[in-house]
Amino acid sequence: MKRILVTGGAGFIGSNFIQHCLTAHEDLEVINLDKLTYAGNLDNLKTVQSDPRYTFFHGDIGDRQLLMDLISRKPIDAIVNFAAETHVDRSISKPDDFLRTDVFGVFSLLEASRQFGVKKYVQISTDEVYGPALEGPMTETSPLNPSSPYSAGKGGGDLLCRAYYSTYKSPVVIVRMANNYGPYQHPEKLIPLCVTNALENEPLPIYGDGSQMREWLYVEDSCRAIDLVLSAGEPGEIYNIGGQGDMTNLMVVKKILECLKKPEDLIAFVDDRPGHDFRYALDDSKLRALGWKPEVDLDAGLVRTVNWYKKNKDWWKKLKEGDFQAYYKKQYGDRLAKAKKTA
Ligand code: NAD
Ligand code: DAU
Repeated sequence: MKRILVTGGAGFIGSNFIQHCLTAHEDLEVINLDKLTYAGNLDNLKTVQSDPRYTFFHGDIGDRQLLMDLISRKPIDAIVNFAAETHVDRSISKPDDFLRTDVFGVFSLLEASRQFGVKKYVQISTDEVYGPALEGPMTETSPLNPSSPYSAGKGGGDLLCRAYYSTYKSPVVIVRMANNYGPYQHPEKLIPLCVTNALENEPLPIYGDGSQMREWLYVEDSCRAIDLVLSAGEPGEIYNIGGQGDMTNLMVVKKILECLKKPEDLIAFVDDRPGHDFRYALDDSKLRALGWKPEVDLDAGLVRTVNWYKKNKDWWKKLKEGDFQAYYKKQYGDRLAKAKKTA
């Protein structure tokens, strides 16, 4: 039986990935190490918690001793690192944990992998490290040009991975993904925030005029891509995982309102995010040459996502209580007070 260590597996993509792997591969054991920050949620893993092939450990990827103990207890064939601080807005107001986890946490994982000769390390990274794609799509050789403390931290993690491959021949593969969406995404992010606000008839805050562009990737498609890179990705290589073309934020939000049959006057145009990247776009032909392509288009993916949030109100209502209320007030209170109804 193959054994993988998934770090950050209680978050959005990590929990989807664990569910995907345990369904797709009978001969796989998954160990999940997660710090359970505000973004980590064991409710995401209820479907696998009693599976004998799944084990959870609570801890920080930056805790080298813990990593050593964990890996020496049971040999690990591969590590897939999802663990990160991930929300750009939070990185603008308080960058500290972003650098601690997204740079030093990666360092600690690379050192532990090196010490134990782990045969593959997959670093989950982001299109944001390339900065805004104002002209063509970014390829894996495009320069790094991060705009936010979040993307700078992720870029730092990627550079460490590259250095460990060059210096120690550590078998590191990096994937850089477009914006994911789907079940179990924290309601701080654009799509779940708008879906859940609309369900509660609350305003949908759109930064600036909503003309910024993202490529959207349904989370099941990215799980299949990561699974493929885990088995077939070449050490030392980077693979972009793209979405399905440009979509403005305003178009996405209007689609959500249409799915929910809610009025467009819920949209509130608020002050823009500082350093807001206008557009991300990825050339993912290298990954497609390995045999992957996205299967869920945005319209179908949004219907699935909206239905999931409608069915799982208890899941997100819990997350929107407590600390989130203070975060929301600080992030949006003043902006919503002076919001415009038209851009
Ligand atoms: P998320 O915020 O939903 O989850 C992050 C998880 O990491 C949480 O479970 C959290 O508890 C855990 N974590 C944070 N710090 C940790 C630490 N020090 N030690 C152990 N666990 C820790 O994130 P996500 O959206 O699922 O993103 C997963 C990965 O994919 C991240 O590396 C992110 O940069 C990358 N990524 C995300 C997207 C996206 O659209 N969501 C796109 C591209 C890349
Ligand atoms: O591109 C990949 C990245 O996607 C990941 O690396 C990050 O971890 C993930 O958080 C996501 O970053 P974004 O900043 O693109 O995602 P977010 O959902 O925060 O915002 C998507 C777009 O919507 C962005 O242009 C900002 C805008 N936005 C966001 C929020 C939260 C709004 O207009 N209003 C909002 O309230």
